[in-house]
Amino acid sequence: MQVLSVHLLNFRNISYLEVALSPGINLFYGMNGQGKTNILEAVEILSTTRSERAFKEAELVNHDQESASVAGSFLKNDLDFEIAVNFHRSRKKTCVRNGKNTTADSIFGSVNIVKFFPRDVEIVSGAPAVRRRYADMEISLSDRLYYNNYKNYVKLIDSRNAVLREVSDMSPGDARYGELLSLIDSYDGLLPDVAYKIYRGRLGFLNEISLYANRSHQMISSDREKLDVRYICSVNESPDKSMVLNENLFKERLIFLLKKNLKNDIIRKLTSVGPHKDDIEFLINEKPAKNFGSTGQIKTLTVSLKLAQIDYIFNKLGDYPVLLIDDLTSEFDAGRLFNIVKSMSRDIQVIVTSTDHGIFKAAFGAGDAVRYFEVSGGSARVKTSDSI
Ligand SMILES: Nc1ncnc2c1ncn2[C@@H]1O[C@H](COP(=O)(O)OP(=O)(O)OP(=O)(O)O)[C@@H](O)[C@H]1O
Ligand SMILES: [Mg+2]
Repeated sequence: MQVLSVHLLNFRNISYLEVALSPGINLFYGMNGQGKTNILEAVEILSTTRSERAFKEAELVNHDQESASVAGSFLKNDLDFEIAVNFHRSRKKTCVRNGKNTTADSIFGSVNIVKFFPRDVEIVSGAPAVRRRYADMEISLSDRLYYNNYKNYVKLIDSRNAVLREVSDMSPGDARYGELLSLIDSYDGLLPDVAYKIYRGRLGFLNEISLYANRSHQMISSDREKLDVRYICSVNESPDKSMVLNENLFKERLIFLLKKNLKNDIIRKLTSVGPHKDDIEFLINEKPAKNFGSTGQIKTLTVSLKLAQIDYIFNKLGDYPVLLIDDLTSEFDAGRLFNIVKSMSRDIQVIVTSTDHGIFKAAFGAGDAVRYFEVSGGSARVKTSDSI
């Protein structure tokens, strides 16, 4: 997978930008607040049609404009294609592939990326919902079946919760009370099958990713740290929550717990068990990273997860994704940073931002291993390694 070029119009602080990218490492460097992250965000949008950092889509449109356009051309399995996503202040975004209007859903995942943004450390240090979202997004990007199952699961839980809210405000004598309880019962009949698919999907993903992530983590930490990943399943009532359940046991336990918790679920107006309540635990040298990891160790772990994702996607799709790394240089010591930068010289395209280009010059020297772009005031200028 390769991003050939990116074209932006009225996107955040960028009035107009057209850049041709190298198939190897592309470094966007410059001072704070110039537009480096905005350029990476644009590539993220071309992959997922949305930006994780934008609270509202209108934020993406330049303050003085009514609409913005993010477009790119790509090469995937020897085929080239173009994608554009247009954002408007007063109406919904529109998506275009090869000049034809299409839906956001049909574009989602066409461009395979792995992205590391500074806030991704939340995957390790944040709330369980962040870790679930990480797993669900990463799996969905290369597995449409999982994506559809995930959407079905969310819909079922939302519907069940809506009925719980209704029942909660009623008395058992109410005419619709029995009817609503049997509606919950019918959701409970549908949930185990789709819940198990989510559980299996996440377990398979984490098994694979943990192998590669441990390898990266050991490499970055110069063999000082070992990484383990465990899935904490809310359906599993045994003391070891990471113990794997087979299909029958999982479904039996879930049905049992849905029934057992129904009274409480009605009071709390929420479904209290299922994959939407699960968690992932990361351990560095056998200690939970969330509680004991230093800032640099947690950032190492997060980068390792992202590097692992590259191999995961390659195994799934037979093609390497594009790696996006925002603000690489902060928090790492010189040794770890050098190990990460060196690990980029492989068969993948990398788009990285940093306030500093020194580490890249030190790691790769002169020559064209890195394409340097100086970002300033929403523009990006190509620089040769000896002109910076
Ligand atoms: N809708 C918008 N319209 C105009 N400017 C915007 C809009 N959204 C963000 N900006 C501005 O874009 C500028 C560049 O933001 P960006 O996050 O890309 O900076 P950066 O180069 O990555 O800086 P840093 O090194 O601090 O991370 C910021 O000054 C920000 O205020
Ligand atoms: Mg930035």
